[in-house]
Amino acid sequence: MTSQIIPVDPFDCIVFGGTGDLAERKLIPALYQRQRGGQLSEPTRIIGASRSPMSNDDYRKFAENAIKEFVKPTEFDQNQVDQFLARVSYVAVDATSDNGWEELKAEIGNDTKHVRAFYLAVSPSLFADISSRLKSYKLVHDHTRIIVEKPIGRDLQSAIALNDTIGHVFHEQQIFRIDHYLGKETVQNLMALRFANALYEPLWNSAHIDHVQITVAESVGLENRAGYYDTAGALRDMVQNHIMQLLCLVAMEPPASMDADAVRDEKLKVLRSLSPITSKNADGLTVRGQYRAGASSGGAVKGYIQELEHPSNTETFVAIKAEIANWRWAGVPFYLRTGKRLASRASEIVVSFKPIPHSIFGESAGRVVANQLVIRLQPDEGVKQWMMIKDPGPGGMRLRHVPLDMTFAESFAARSPDAYERLIMDVVRGNQTLFMRRDEVVAAWQWVDPILRAWAETEQPPAGYTAGTWGPSAAIALIERDNRTWHEPE
Ligand code: BG6
Repeated sequence: MTSQIIPVDPFDCIVFGGTGDLAERKLIPALYQRQRGGQLSEPTRIIGASRSPMSNDDYRKFAENAIKEFVKPTEFDQNQVDQFLARVSYVAVDATSDNGWEELKAEIGNDTKHVRAFYLAVSPSLFADISSRLKSYKLVHDHTRIIVEKPIGRDLQSAIALNDTIGHVFHEQQIFRIDHYLGKETVQNLMALRFANALYEPLWNSAHIDHVQITVAESVGLENRAGYYDTAGALRDMVQNHIMQLLCLVAMEPPASMDADAVRDEKLKVLRSLSPITSKNADGLTVRGQYRAGASSGGAVKGYIQELEHPSNTETFVAIKAEIANWRWAGVPFYLRTGKRLASRASEIVVSFKPIPHSIFGESAGRVVANQLVIRLQPDEGVKQWMMIKDPGPGGMRLRHVPLDMTFAESFAARSPDAYERLIMDVVRGNQTLFMRRDEVVAAWQWVDPILRAWAETEQPPAGYTAGTWGPSAAIALIERDNRTWHEPE
C-alpha cells in the first residue's frame, strides 16, 4: 500500500519564535513538506512572529533558506517553494509588551471559521505573557489551538504553574503539548506492532519478557544550546518526556481505541505505576554522567566543561533501572539510558524475552540465545525479531541467532516524514492522540522530581565518560549487576 495524502482544512499557523532555531530547522521545513505533499488547502497561511523587525520579503527569504538548508536537495522544488512562500508573512511582536499586537491582530483578521494554531516556539518563560495577550487582544476563538514545546516546567511545581497559566486561557482540548518523539514513524509503529498483531500481546508480560532496554543515544554535544541545556541536563531534557513516553507505549495496556483519551488514560496508568526512586535507592538505580574530551564522528571533541567554559555538575548522560509495579510488569526491569556525545546516534527499544526453559540440543549445537525484539527508532528505522534457526546445510544440528528484518527503507520505498509534519497536521485535525495530556506531564514529573532531589542531596559530581563511548562504566555495572548487558546498537 502506498502512502495516502488526506488534505487538511485551511488553517492559520502563527509561529511565535518565527525566526528561531526550531522554526528554521523543523517547523518551516515540515510545513513546506506538507505543501509539497499536497496536504495544505487554500487559504492556509503561516505567520512568523518574533521581536526583531523584518519585512515580509526578508522573512520569506529566511524561510526559503531554511528549506534549502534543512530539506534534502532532491526534495527542493522551486515551484512548490514559491507556492509555499506565498502563504508566508511576518509580524514583529514583542511578547512582553503591547508592541506589535494590534498589527498581529490585523494580519490574522476576523475569520473565525478556520483553525488558528498559535505555535509557541519560544522559551517557556514567555508562555504566560503570550497567552494572556492572546486573550486580551481577543485572538482566541473556538477553533483556536495552542502548541507548546517541552520543557513543560523544570520540576513538578513549575510544570503545574505553566499548565495553570495556559489553562487560564485555553481549554485542555485546545492545548497541544508536543513531544516530537510521539510523531516519529517507528514510535507509531510500536502501536501497530503491539496491537495489530496477535503474536506479541500474549507474550507481552513478566511471564515471557525478561527485561526491556530503551536507549536514546546522541553523538552531538551542546550544539549552541548551552544556556538551556546546562540548566536542564539529560534527565529533564530527554527522560522526563521522550523516554518516559516511549516507556509508556511499550508498557501500556491495550487501549479501547486510538482515541486520544483512550490512549492517554493507559499511558497515565503506566506513569503512575512506576516505582519511586528516592534518595534511599537512587544510588543503586541511577547513574549520572558527564562527557570528557574524546573523539566523535572521527574528530577530536571538547569535554562538556570546556564547551561550556565554566564548571558544572549538569549530567549529559543518565541511566536508570526502572520498575513498573503492576500485574503485567512486576519484576521486569526497564533499563533506560540517554546521553550526548555517545559512540553513535542510535535510538532503540529492545525487548528481551526469557530464555527457553530447557534445551534439547547438545553442546555442539551452540548456545541458544533468548529471543529479542529490536525496534530501531533512528537512524535506519526498522524492526528486527531475533530468532534461533538451524544453520542451513550439512554438519549436524548447529543453531544460529538471526534476525527477521523489517528495515523500513528497504521494505517500503516511502519517505519517512519528519515527526513535526505529522504532529502539526494532527493539531489542525484536532487529534490529540500523539500529544501529552496535562495529567501525564504531572505524573512524569512526580516520578522525576524525587530523582532530581536525590541527586541534589549527594555531594558526588556526575561520573566522567570519554566522548565517543557508551557512557560511564557505572552504567555498564548498573545492568551487569543483574547479569544482563546493554544491547550494542548496530
Ligand atoms: C530534544 C532535546 O527534545 O530532542 C535535544 O531537547 C535532543 O537535546 C533532541 O538533541 C533529540 O531529538 P531527535 O529527534 O534528533 O532524536
